[in-house]
Amino acid sequence: MTALWVFGVFLMFLFRASALTAGFIKSPLSQMKLVDDSAELHCEVIGNPIPEVQWWYIEGEEPDETFTQLFDGARMDRVRINATYIAHATSTIYFHNLTVNDTGTYECRASNDPDRNDLKKIPKIKWIRSQANIIVFELPVIMTNPAEVSNMTSATLSCNLTDPPSAVKGHYWTKNGEVIKATKVDTSATYTEYNLPKIDTKSGGEYACVFLSTPEVKQTVEAIVNGTDRYEIQSTPNNSTLYIHNLDIEKDMGYYMCYGESDLGSHSDKIHLRVRSRLAALWPFLGIVAEVIVLITIIFIYEKRRKPDEVNDDDDSGSAPLKSNSATNHKDKNVRQRNSN
Ligand SMILES: *[C@@H]1O[C@H](CO)[C@@H](O)[C@H](O)[C@H]1NC(C)=O
Ligand SMILES: *[C@@H]1O[C@H](CO)[C@@H](O)[C@H](O)[C@H]1NC(C)=O
Ligand SMILES: *[C@@H]1O[C@H](CO)[C@@H](O)[C@H](O)[C@H]1NC(C)=O
Ligand SMILES: *[C@@H]1O[C@H](CO)[C@@H](O)[C@H](O)[C@H]1NC(C)=O
Ligand SMILES: *[C@@H]1O[C@H](CO)[C@@H](O)[C@H](O)[C@H]1NC(C)=O
Ligand SMILES: *[C@@H]1O[C@H](CO)[C@@H](O)[C@H](O)[C@H]1NC(C)=O
Ligand SMILES: *[C@@H]1O[C@H](CO)[C@@H](O)[C@H](O)[C@H]1NC(C)=O
Ligand SMILES: *[C@@H]1O[C@H](CO)[C@@H](O)[C@H](O)[C@H]1NC(C)=O
Repeated sequence: MTALWVFGVFLMFLFRASALTAGFIKSPLSQMKLVDDSAELHCEVIGNPIPEVQWWYIEGEEPDETFTQLFDGARMDRVRINATYIAHATSTIYFHNLTVNDTGTYECRASNDPDRNDLKKIPKIKWIRSQANIIVFELPVIMTNPAEVSNMTSATLSCNLTDPPSAVKGHYWTKNGEVIKATKVDTSATYTEYNLPKIDTKSGGEYACVFLSTPEVKQTVEAIVNGTDRYEIQSTPNNSTLYIHNLDIEKDMGYYMCYGESDLGSHSDKIHLRVRSRLAALWPFLGIVAEVIVLITIIFIYEKRRKPDEVNDDDDSGSAPLKSNSATNHKDKNVRQRNSN
């Protein structure tokens, strides 16, 4: 492996030495994606002068292929190209919001022939090419049961994948984007269950089953906690208190109305609740810490700059300066005392 690499580097220098040749040092890699995914292909080429890199889309089979050059902003702005020409050429093509129609062969082309884009002259050197395929699959059907979890005290979530894009090698579940380790299984099964014995504020959230096919496919199931059990209302005839447990920084922010009624009439009032992150209270403290650090730094720098002057004073007069940094002063004294001993 290493030997190959060294040989590659050697070749690289050979390429560099002989003018007007270009060589790939990184070729684009084929990949499989799902509709709406993003993909990127990367290509690096060396040569002297630095080669130009182009991207082409190839449709159809030989010999009836059609070639379409891709540019930055192509396909309704879903295609972006980022190229750099420093020391060597690098180019990355990005595809966003992939559609099934993006499936196909893509070609990275490079040339440093000065006549490469002159249609009248026959180029001395051909474009060098490197190809990769992107295959875009339709989103597979994953039936979840129940489709939604709300107003339930317990539930067994299940996913049934009916049309995997490729063989399934395993599956697992995630909760709010985090893998639930115990659910990881290596199996070709296309059906999986996850049991939620108790649904409360802790276990509520977004669950997803992930099937390890190529590409990976997943489906989410939201476990909505019975809204009412986060709220608690305690009332006396003339006082009513609303408790909100496990405040959510986004969901609980807003206006709350209370409404009172008696023989004398009714009245309502609203309270604005702002939820701040726990860190919010820390900011003023961190500000002070930062201020102190800046001050100490300034003092330190100032003191460092002053030192050479003091030494000069010392040498000139032969006596210790009266007003100066105490630390240096002590050191001087110690040295002198030891010398005299
Ligand atoms: C991709 O699709 C999303 C939603 O459909 C849209 O918000 C976004 O602008 C799209 N991106 C591009 C580059 O078209
Ligand atoms: C383009 O590539 C350069 C260098 O690799 C990088 O710094 C820059 O962020 C990239 N721009 C985009 C839009 O990806
Ligand atoms: C894909 O191409 C076909 C025909 O070439 C066209 O009918 C269809 O609308 C295209 N689909 C998308 C999502 O662009
Ligand atoms: C939740 O269930 C209770 C009874 O179990 C019912 O009265 C209530 O309407 C349900 N709420 C929703 C939003 O389905
Ligand atoms: C949801 O709320 C309803 C009505 O308040 C109650 O009867 C039910 O037990 C609650 N369910 C859960 C899971 O807390
Ligand atoms: C999964 O779905 C397929 C097709 O709808 C059905 O035949 C199969 O019985 C389901 N599997 C399970 C375990 O529910
Ligand atoms: C609320 O009512 C209690 C008796 O029920 C009374 O002792 C108390 O003073 C009242 N508080 C206010 C604020 O009116
Ligand atoms: C209302 O009740 C809450 C809690 O029981 C208490 O903290 C608050 O001081 C009471 N308000 C009045 C006006 O009595």
